[in-house]
Amino acid sequence: MPGLLSSPVCLTVIWFLSWSLHLSCAQVWTYEVSAVQYGRLESNVTLACGKSQIRTPVVWHLNHSSALPWHRVASDGTLVLLHVEHTAQGVYSCYDNQGLLLHSVKLRLGHPPGLLSVSCQVPNHTHVRCSWVESVKTFLPAQYNASFRGNGQEWRPCVLDVARKHCDVDHPAFWQTIHTLRITETNGLGSETTYVRFRLHELLKPDPPESVLVKDLEGYPKRLIVSWEIPSSWPLHDAFPLIFQIRYRPQGSAYWSEVYSEESPVVIFDALAGYVHQVQIRARDEVNAESQWSEWSPLLLVRPWEAYSTPDPTEDLPPDATDYFFPFNAKPENATEKSHNPELEGDGNLGLVILLVLFSVVILITVLSLIYVVWVRQQRRDHVTKQELTSMVKMKSMPI
Ligand SMILES: *[C@@H]1O[C@H](CO)[C@@H](O)[C@H](O)[C@H]1NC(C)=O
Ligand SMILES: *[C@@H]1O[C@H](CO)[C@@H](O)[C@H](O)[C@H]1NC(C)=O
Ligand SMILES: *[C@@H]1O[C@H](CO)[C@@H](O)[C@H](O)[C@H]1NC(C)=O
Ligand SMILES: *[C@@H]1O[C@H](CO)[C@@H](O)[C@H](O)[C@H]1NC(C)=O
Repeated sequence: MPGLLSSPVCLTVIWFLSWSLHLSCAQVWTYEVSAVQYGRLESNVTLACGKSQIRTPVVWHLNHSSALPWHRVASDGTLVLLHVEHTAQGVYSCYDNQGLLLHSVKLRLGHPPGLLSVSCQVPNHTHVRCSWVESVKTFLPAQYNASFRGNGQEWRPCVLDVARKHCDVDHPAFWQTIHTLRITETNGLGSETTYVRFRLHELLKPDPPESVLVKDLEGYPKRLIVSWEIPSSWPLHDAFPLIFQIRYRPQGSAYWSEVYSEESPVVIFDALAGYVHQVQIRARDEVNAESQWSEWSPLLLVRPWEAYSTPDPTEDLPPDATDYFFPFNAKPENATEKSHNPELEGDGNLGLVILLVLFSVVILITVLSLIYVVWVRQQRRDHVTKQELTSMVKMKSMPI
């Protein structure tokens, strides 16, 4: 038997049987999934029981259950679902009166596509990104097709990223005043094309400046120095210069002061001495007056230099922390110093008290011994008798 099982012929037969079994399973499966019918929500949907006309009465099942949504069955066996809702989705099967499966179809319900709401971003002269939002929720898988052209030019594809709902065009013809984007959305119930016309030079909006830094200027209580890098999405060469707007105000004030500059860094000369300031910066194409300002860079906080008499420890902090958070660091430092001092003083006092007590005890003992010695000598000189000696012994045993 083992010899027979391992023989090449037997193995081939086993392989062929398992392969054909697998294939037939796959065919059933693809049959069920590929036969998809789409229907509009809240409409009447008609499902035919196969292609040929069937005379005999048929039975319909949804997901292998005879419970069907609101419906009627026509004389030719077609099923009409009335005013369908989401819950009517599933696999519909029709059987003849002997229980033989005649046809099976998967029903998916939704809406045909509507117009898209499109917006385009132009972060530099060589790039356009258009994103869209559906105005109708279709509940169905969709395909998109997008193309782009300048006035009177050929359509070019706008490269799609369907998952993120945007498409990109590189090197658009910037010298053309008007451009058109065309996006077609297609699903099982239809398709809709949206056209958008726009002027690239009006949409041009750089990204905000990067690596923005604000510092105080040592020795100048009313000055701040602001530095930054041009946005990394903006070309470096001088063909497309940017103009920068810096705004600043003391924290809590409602009014901004502004400075314009073509280059980093910029010195602010009129900061309010002793106050924390908020500082932001944004950029715009300098040549094209119709283009847009970038968003503001994130808010930075800084306090101008002050003639502090506090010692140096803050200099050991990283420069950023000193720039932006110096006032906040200063307080806790003073507080800890103060809280340490009383403790130190307490220790010193205690030592001194102990020293004084010990010293006075030593002096007391010395004085008492001297008095005793003097007294003993006096006694010896006066009465050197045995009786008196015994009385002296009594005296010695007395506590001092
Ligand atoms: C759906 O069918 C019902 C009954 O046949 C009918 O009254 C109704 O008008 C139909 N609705 C639509 C949207 O066709
Ligand atoms: C039928 O099955 C599908 C999944 O195949 C499910 O989404 C649907 O809700 C089911 N329909 C009903 C009425 O149970
Ligand atoms: C996309 O649109 C272009 C131009 O209209 C057309 O030639 C192409 O077949 C479309 N592709 C798809 C997948 O619809
Ligand atoms: C223009 O912006 C896009 C998107 O941010 C970027 O990928 C591209 O490199 C930028 N072009 C230049 C010349 O910097």
